Amino acid sequence: MSQELWTAVDRYISDRLLPEDPALEAAIAASDAAGLPPIAITPAQGKLLELLVRIHGARRILELGTLGGYSTMWLARGLPPGGSIVTLELDPHHAKVAAANLTRAGLTEIVQLRVGPALRTLPELLAEGEGPFDLIFIDADKRNYPGYLEWSLKLSHPGSLIIGDNVVRGGVILDPDGHDPRLGEGGVQAVRRFYELLAAEPGVSATVIQTVGEKGHDGFAIALVGGGSGDGHA
Ligand code: SAH
Ligand code: DHB
Ligand code: MG
Repeated sequence: MSQELWTAVDRYISDRLLPEDPALEAAIAASDAAGLPPIAITPAQGKLLELLVRIHGARRILELGTLGGYSTMWLARGLPPGGSIVTLELDPHHAKVAAANLTRAGLTEIVQLRVGPALRTLPELLAEGEGPFDLIFIDADKRNYPGYLEWSLKLSHPGSLIIGDNVVRGGVILDPDGHDPRLGEGGVQAVRRFYELLAAEPGVSATVIQTVGEKGHDGFAIALVGGGSGDGHA
């Protein structure tokens, strides 16, 4: 098994199942041209997010970590008329590129982009009475995933879906002393804590699905709030 093979299969999937979308492609091109890191989700992963939004019937979405707005655009594709997204981004340059991409995609009415550290903008959202959100996509700095989960729960209702990106990272999370430059300082330990919090939170029912593809070996956490253990039939 190799990166080369995973990338080839991702291309096969995209070619057959994901029709070319000029708005999404323009967002990636503009993000690359503006020097943003090439760390957005893949097209196949974006389609998974779109489908989860639709399957769940989500109308209000919260995203942590906008980058150039690529994942934001996939989430938006799953929304019904009247749906909306709040997306949080620390870096003003990333936010500027995202705003331009979202404008070009005709999403300014639907997407509210807030610039600042998410641990500051999340309490602001709560204080302003924003939320609860039906679906929350956590994809900002990994070091703060435990805090992001706590705030996501405060901004949830029973039935909310919380999705966390990058919770496997080639398996580096298996090592309590692990380090991954891409997860940042303390990132491995923070992601491990994120698993512990998911497991300990009463009423939260969660799993992680490992993925391979263009972006290597990683995984998505998927958690249902107020979902219990799922054995209500027993
Ligand atoms: N969701 C995007 C990728 C996000 S990359 C996509 O798939 O298209 C992670 C983003 O989180 C980066 O843009 C980074 O600037 C942002 N970020 C890092 N620290 C943050 C913080 N404290 N608060 C909010 N955003 C942060
Ligand atoms: C990287 C990938 C991500 O999906 C992310 O959210 C942050 C960083 C990376 O590959 O470096
Ligand atoms: Mg990510």
